[in-house]
Amino acid sequence: MYRPQEDSFLLARALRDAGGAQDAKVLDFCTGSGFLAIAAARAGAAAVTALDISRRAVLTARANALSRRLPISVLRGSLDVAVEHGPFDVVLSNPPYVPDNGQSNEDPRWDAGPDGRSVLDPLCDSLPQLLSPRGFALLVHSEFTGVDETLERVRAAGLSGSVVARERIPFGPVLQRRLSYLQEVELAQQGIDTEEVVVIRAGRHWE
Ligand SMILES: C[S@@+](CC[C@H](N)C(=O)[O-])C[C@H]1O[C@@H](n2cnc3c(N)ncnc32)[C@H](O)[C@@H]1O
Repeated sequence: MYRPQEDSFLLARALRDAGGAQDAKVLDFCTGSGFLAIAAARAGAAAVTALDISRRAVLTARANALSRRLPISVLRGSLDVAVEHGPFDVVLSNPPYVPDNGQSNEDPRWDAGPDGRSVLDPLCDSLPQLLSPRGFALLVHSEFTGVDETLERVRAAGLSGSVVARERIPFGPVLQRRLSYLQEVELAQQGIDTEEVVVIRAGRHWE
């Protein structure tokens, strides 16, 4: 189970700063423990849907929402389920994003592919379907996943795209385990031990 950490906290702060959760219909895609769904509900969302492909994550998020008496609908599934339940005014996502050569023997649900984009790219492509006319998305990932790629992807989908928050953080355990692969494919330089994590906002309107 993914315990909320720096990337989760950065995205929660970006949501607070964006100020759009009040009365909104919100999706937390890749919810894990439900941390971001709970942040959205506490920020006054009218309805929150939380989605994860992991059965364990769904059970945990449900328990966390229930114990806080927050009306969050936690569902098991991926993008097809999200599209079915949309559109949403706010889409939040902290997806798996650390590039991996497939040999780390981690849970396949953490697999983000060799470039870290196997969950992120389909999500960017689906945003026009997922977002309501006033909708926007906040997505968090590492510099190693390709910030320009995400901006280009959301713009290619006809949306605005900009970086709204960034933070330099020490490598976490997942990145530590995958560091030799990141160095091998020249995504990370030798001798560094921090990464920049960014929040990208994608929306229907340029601000
Ligand atoms: C980095 S964790 C994020 C957890 C939480 N949102 C947070 O910020 O603390 C990523 C989560 O994405 C889930 N996941 C991976 N692939 C997915 C997919 N295709 N559809 C839905 N959830 C997925 C994993 O099970 C995991 O719980």
